[in-house]
Amino acid sequence: MRLKIAILAGDGIGPEVTNEAVNILKAVAEFGGHDFTFVPLLLGGVAITATGSPLPTATLDACLESDAVLLGAVGDKKFDALTPDKRPESGLLQIRHALGGFANLRPSIAYPALSANSPLRPEVTEGADILFVRELLGGLYFGSPREWNKSTGEAWNTMRYTKSEVARVARVAFELASKRRRKVTSVDKANVLEVSQLWRATVTEVAKDYPAVTLEHQLVDSMAMHLMNIPRNFDVVLTENLFGDILSDEASIITGSLGMLPSATIGGTVNLYEPVHGSAPDIAGTGKANPLGAILTAAMLLRHSANLEEDAAAIESAVRTVLADGHRTADIARGNTASQHLVSTTEMGKLVHQALAQSIDQRQSMHAV
Ligand code: IPM
Ligand code: MN
Repeated sequence: MRLKIAILAGDGIGPEVTNEAVNILKAVAEFGGHDFTFVPLLLGGVAITATGSPLPTATLDACLESDAVLLGAVGDKKFDALTPDKRPESGLLQIRHALGGFANLRPSIAYPALSANSPLRPEVTEGADILFVRELLGGLYFGSPREWNKSTGEAWNTMRYTKSEVARVARVAFELASKRRRKVTSVDKANVLEVSQLWRATVTEVAKDYPAVTLEHQLVDSMAMHLMNIPRNFDVVLTENLFGDILSDEASIITGSLGMLPSATIGGTVNLYEPVHGSAPDIAGTGKANPLGAILTAAMLLRHSANLEEDAAAIESAVRTVLADGHRTADIARGNTASQHLVSTTEMGKLVHQALAQSIDQRQSMHAV
């Protein structure tokens, strides 16, 4: 299999975690005899510094010509004083828009090995396995008009959705739920917002095509509470853009750390893969960053852009093995578990690589007999 992967490592810890994810992809290519090429490109603060633009044309063009885009993180305090359209984050929003993927998949899983490391009690997190489907191209992020009028002291953004934008992301959620525990929880604020009433009506209509899937509606405020109270009650959670941004960060507490969460954005011209965490400038360069979010993101890339399900599952199981063996980066080393062993970003990457090599070896020898 040939795959051309655009690498947008970005800012802060982005390059460190992306490097570990790329190493894992290289290992998969080597074991499986695949031809993966990696094209490093500038995005975010590093791109502003080098070219003046957070999304240089060269980056965009190369991404559109690739089979998949793997992103690290963007954001740099250096640009905090700039308006949103000039900041590193605008490069990320522009690339999301240009690639056209509207369904952002964000799994949040309670790993048994991490149950003592989540701030939630083990009996609360046990069995939780949630897939957020976050609409990524609409809502407040992209709606117009938007402005900060400094002379009048007013500012506004627009939460806008069309019926077809809601329907297409709802279909993705129902399709995925059909292959899981067959439940969709749709999140809105339909007691206050017209845009949420459109959302709820459209999702209800789409649900008719999926009689085997149960649909429930939750208001976003009570959803924030239920998520921490009984997380195992949720299967697929469908949200608009901003609600999904907020709830997926909240859901990282179920796993134990934001550093653990991967994401895949599908439905457009080229799929985009990015860990959920940000650039974490406070720990950049210290070796403390958790590369598992980026590594699990690489697994999603193999699953959704290369159809290499066995390899994706092998990476996910290598991550479970490394966690079960007690290895922890600083963010997941909470609690008094005596058996945990603190490791750096690169050490964690190597441990996953070793576990992956072992499981692929076993698979190949099984296939040989
Ligand atoms: C995320 C991030 C981005 C978002 C920022 C960096 C623009 O928080 O991917 O969740 O808000 O979508
Ligand atoms: Mn976010």
